[in-house]
Amino acid sequence: MTITKKQTALEISAQMDIPGRKMEFEFDLDSLPRYWHSGDIFKTTYMNALSCLFPEGERMFIDAVRDHKHLVKDEKLLQQIKGFIKQEAIHGHEHAQFNKYLDKQGYPASKVEAFEKREKAWMKKIMPARTRLAITSAVEHFTAIMADDILNNPASTEGMDEEFKALWKWHAVEETEHKAVAFDVYQQTGGGYFQRVIAMFMVTIMFCMKVSTVQAIFLWKDGKLFSPKVWWQGIKMYFGKNSLIKNIWRNYIDYYRPSFHPWDHDNRELLQEWIDKGQSYKTV
Ligand SMILES: [Fe+2]
Ligand SMILES: [Fe+2]
Repeated sequence: MTITKKQTALEISAQMDIPGRKMEFEFDLDSLPRYWHSGDIFKTTYMNALSCLFPEGERMFIDAVRDHKHLVKDEKLLQQIKGFIKQEAIHGHEHAQFNKYLDKQGYPASKVEAFEKREKAWMKKIMPARTRLAITSAVEHFTAIMADDILNNPASTEGMDEEFKALWKWHAVEETEHKAVAFDVYQQTGGGYFQRVIAMFMVTIMFCMKVSTVQAIFLWKDGKLFSPKVWWQGIKMYFGKNSLIKNIWRNYIDYYRPSFHPWDHDNRELLQEWIDKGQSYKTV
């Protein structure tokens, strides 16, 4: 990857290569601690909740982008769509493995996934493809800004189990690599500003409600839902020093600008850093 700082967002987007990578994670699920994120119950159950929502969510993103492929004329974007589909399919698969670990721990991960599957089938039935793509573009922005926090803010992964840290960093790298694909497909196939930002507004409410609900179920299972210690961990994660909200809100708000493009925030150096560390994977 050649990083030239004076490039515009569209120039960066047009040069991004999006490879499918088959990672070789080896989780020793029996020896993993229940609270694998620095022993912090809130952070761990929050990320467990995210993981449960990924497999079906990623399938929906693939469908929404694929449903617009026939309208895309740009060869480079067509190549990027292929890479996007490969990456999201592999993410879904790896997180499904992770979710089996959650089932083993007694969390109702499979039930959450089954609910998500029914919801996504219903959305596909009642929503026009354009609406699903506007939602996908919004969620992709959400995942991209959270990925930026994972890659850029050491505190967000400090104390994580090493194998899980590798999984989350790889996912964050690929979310960054393909952060503009759904957006570019939406723009290039005639998607408008108002639908884009209304979708983001709705997605924000739904995403927060959904993650919190699943996390609350997990905390309830552990008998920790009303633990003051866990609530304090939550306040620190969301609002403390180096917190999630402090780190992402500016990037979040940016999406509402009419001229927004995901590569206005050029964070390619985070990808390069990860690649330079030498990763073990097969390109597919
Ligand atoms: Fe993904
Ligand atoms: Fe994605």
